Parts: sequence; C-alpha cells; structure tokens
Amino acid sequence: MRTSRTRSTRTRPLRGSLRRRVAALFAGAVTVAALLAAGTTAHAADAPLRDLAAAKGKVIGTAVTGSKLTGTYGTIAGGQFNSLTPGNAMKWGTVEPTRGSFNWAEADQIVAFAQAHNQQVRGHTLVWHSQNPSWLTNGTWTTAELSALLQDHITTEVTRYKGKLAAWDVVNEPFNEDGTYRSTLWYNGLGADYIAQALTWAHAADPSAKLYINDYNVEGVNAKSTALYNLVKSLKARGVPIDGVGLQAHLILGQVPGTLQQNIQRFADLGVDVAVTELDIRMQLPSDSTKLAQQAADYKAVFDACVAVTRCYGVTVWGFTDSDSWIPDVFSGYGAATPYDENYAPKPAYGAIAASLGGTTTPPPTGACTVTYSVQTQWNTGFTGQVRIACSGAALSSWKVNWTYGAGQQITQAWNATCTQSGAAVSCANASYNGSVPDGGSVTFGFNASWSGSNPVPTVTLG
Ligand code: G3I
Repeated sequence: MRTSRTRSTRTRPLRGSLRRRVAALFAGAVTVAALLAAGTTAHAADAPLRDLAAAKGKVIGTAVTGSKLTGTYGTIAGGQFNSLTPGNAMKWGTVEPTRGSFNWAEADQIVAFAQAHNQQVRGHTLVWHSQNPSWLTNGTWTTAELSALLQDHITTEVTRYKGKLAAWDVVNEPFNEDGTYRSTLWYNGLGADYIAQALTWAHAADPSAKLYINDYNVEGVNAKSTALYNLVKSLKARGVPIDGVGLQAHLILGQVPGTLQQNIQRFADLGVDVAVTELDIRMQLPSDSTKLAQQAADYKAVFDACVAVTRCYGVTVWGFTDSDSWIPDVFSGYGAATPYDENYAPKPAYGAIAASLGGTTTPPPTGACTVTYSVQTQWNTGFTGQVRIACSGAALSSWKVNWTYGAGQQITQAWNATCTQSGAAVSCANASYNGSVPDGGSVTFGFNASWSGSNPVPTVTLG
C-alpha cells in the first residue's frame, strides 16, 4: 500500500516586478497567487554521496532491483552510491528456482551495472531460512544430502562471481531475539556448525571476498547481538574465515539504539569489520515535516556511528527510494523509510547523510511550485474555476491549497480534488491519483461555485 505524504514547504512572495508582469499577463478574472519555494526540502548534495563517503574511507551502498536500473533510478543508483547489494537477485530461490536449473540474469545484470559504474557489489545472501526454492524446503533430506546441497549451492554461486564481489552476506539471520539459534532447515538439519561450514566453503570458492554474518535487531548491545558477538569470537578463535558482521538496521523512527557505536566498536575490537547492511527507518504514514526531520536525525546518528569507528566498513540503505522499499508491503501503515521519496526527490535524510559524511547541500535558488487560480467561465449566479499547481526545480508528492472568498462565493462541486468550505475558508487537497507533481510537471483541478454581487479573485496558498 502506498500512501501520499505531505512535504515540508515554505512560502515566499512573488518579487515585485515579477508580480506585476504576472498580474498583467493574467489580468481580468485571473490571478496568480502563492509561490512555494522548496526551502526546507533537501536537494542533491554538492558532491555525490559516494564521493563524500570515499573521502571518509567509507562505502555507501544501496539495495537495488535489477529491472529498475534505468532512467532516474539508474542515475541515482550509479551516481550516488559506490556499492550495490542485490535486494533479491542472489537469493537461492531466485537463482535456482528448479533444482539444477539456474537463473543468474538479474544478478549478472546488477554485477555488470556495478562494474560499469565503478561500484562494489555485496553478495546477499547464501544461507538463509527464507526465500529458498520450494524444491529445497519441501524436500526430505538426510544430513549428508543437506550438507552437500548447501556446499554445492555456496560453491556454485560464489565461484560464479569469484573476484567480482567485495563481500558476501554468507549467513543471514541465524539468531532468535533471545540469542538462541533460530530453528531453521540448516540449524535443525546440520547443527550450529552449519555457520562455520558455510564460511569455510565460501572462502574456498573466493578467498578474496570478505565474509559476513548478517542479522537484524543486533544494532545495539542486547541479548541477540551478544550471541552474535560470542559466535564471532569463537569462530575467530577456531580460525574459521569470518571477516565481518552485518547489522541490518531496519529501524523505527526515533529508535536508533543509543549503544549503536559502542556495539560497532566491540565487534571491531574482536578484529572484524562491521557494515550496516540494510538501513531503513520507517515511520507511520503519512509523513510530515516533523517526522522527516526526526528521520534525518536518525539517519545522521547511524552514519555518525559508522564514521566514528575505523573498522565500520560502510552503510548500505535497503532501497534508496520509497518507491522501492519493502516496508509498506510488510508493515501496514508504515513507510517513507528511505532517503529519497517516491518521485526520487531527496528527503531531509539525504542531506543528513551528506552532512554526516562531511558534505553540504545547497537548495537550488529557483526551485518552486506555483499555484494559479483562474475563473474559466462565469454566468449571472455561478462560475467555473480552475487551479493549476506547477513545479519547476521542485516536486510534490501530495498537495493542499487554501484560499478565502471575500464576497460570499460558495463552492458547489469540485473535480480532481477534494474541496471543503467552512464559511469563507476553502481547502482543496489532491485526489488519490494526482498528489504527485514532478519537477517540470503540473496538476489541474476544477470546481463550480456560486457568486452574487462581485466575484473577486482570492489569494491562494499552497501548504
Ligand atoms: O518477484 C515476485 C513477483 O513475480 C510477484 O508478482 C510478487 C507478488 O507478491 O512477488 C515478487 O516477489 C517478492 C520479492 O520480494 C520481489 O519483489 C516477494 O513476494 C517478496 O516477499 C520479496 O520480499 C523481499 C523480502 O526480503 C523477502 O523476505 C524484499 O523484496 C526484500 O527487500 C527483503 O529483504 C530482506 C533481506 O533479504 C534480509 N533482511 C530483511 C530484508 C527485509 O525483509
């Protein structure tokens, strides 16, 4: 479910000469009112995030969907990030949907895109309890068969991308919240040592790839992260090839754990790298400027913690745009979890990431959305009006316009907007299908109203 949201905005009056020219242009029963500058909206950083991150010795990544890597999505994915993680393309269920029959198309495409854009790839994921092929999960296997299946899978996939991937999330989500091992096909069939075996097989197939164990709710110091800590410590002591831990970081607005940096540091002190692998910060929809500001602070806190610890390898966001996020599908009523909105406009979180990486964001001087109110036709008791919202150098994902009638006009009907009138005050909000006004685009709605005596044009504001 996708829900439109209100963007943070600030109004600014038209400059005098411009106002006069516009007034002359629309003389008569037509006027232009309200210019909306995207004052508090984040804009592209002066330097791409990937350059800022590189200057700090960090990696900034995003999960991607291969089929979307064109147009604006491709431009941002390639231009702002120096690492890609296939969101689904390398999972067992994707690459071997039928036993012995492989589909590498999307994974290959993402690796090729990354190479063309001088990006790293983080492989995700080899051993998981989810998104496995049904032939595997529905089968009945002896311990030996299960072990051979897992070894073959790891060897086949890691070998295919040998030398091309910077890292692999080898084992994904092995723990319960209380720090006990999760009951899975692998744990139940092979025992806890499936983790050491998987790491060993992966290392044999590609000795240069950094090998990680990845989990969620392990960002702060808690029972689950302590179990992960103890596992990594024992694997290191045994000489098992483990290079890093992945903290997924699927966070909730305002709930970045206060012990995040301390937790990253304790893993680093074990002699492994730490990567934030799947960062998103969800909020209850609709978003508003207060929530987006909190989200920006939260994103900054996560990046600051990584920047502060030398062995924090980098941060990957789990989708860079709200149009490519798993959150609304899984957490009903929640969303807006990524740094760009559904129209690829950077949100305040984007500016916060840039700031954490030592960059700045400069709002474009002329970006604005304008509202035009016009009377289309008028007869002795009524008239048809139209309002046009047009954006240039800015964009909206939802809108609401307001005006006050000065001579007793009364709206009787509206289309392409939901209008309410209370006394003289009129408020019209977007319909479900036209909240989005992209940069360079416009939306128009109309209405009928009654009048008597005079029909002066009101001042319309967008906000
Ligand atoms: O590809 C099919 C499509 O053909 C079909 O029409 C559609 C109908 O629902 O489903 C599509 O598959 C979906 C797939 O994403 C690709 O969009 C699955 O239903 C859906 O379950 C799957 O969700 C993925 C989820 O893992 C599965 O658990 C998310 O995209 C993916 O972002 C998410 O990623 C995980 C990480 O791997 C591990 N950590 C948690 C994270 C979030 O769940």
